[in-house]
Amino acid sequence: VHVTFITPSGVATTLDGDVGQSVMDIGKRAGVENIIGECGGSAACATCHVHVDPAWIDLVGPPSDDEWDMLDFAHGKRADSRLSCQIRLRPALEGLIVHTPERQG
Ligand code: FES
Repeated sequence: VHVTFITPSGVATTLDGDVGQSVMDIGKRAGVENIIGECGGSAACATCHVHVDPAWIDLVGPPSDDEWDMLDFAHGKRADSRLSCQIRLRPALEGLIVHTPERQG
């Protein structure tokens, strides 16, 4: 399942991950800028914040209430914000695009 990360300056990185992995997992492993994932994926740090591309927002779906609350700690929370550790790769997300924030926290 391919995911493209786009930075605020427009640098795009496309990575291939396995079904069941999180977007944070693959981004962090590859060293994508500003995908920090301090808590290791337990929705407890908000340093994996991303903005889901408008074309993908419906398919990715909304955050849980807890995730949405945790996003209060993220820099620049918006309606399209998600914790990337809470987005699990599945076949329907092939080609997913997320935008990384200016900074985390
Ligand atoms: Fe900590 Fe996602 S990795 S909230």
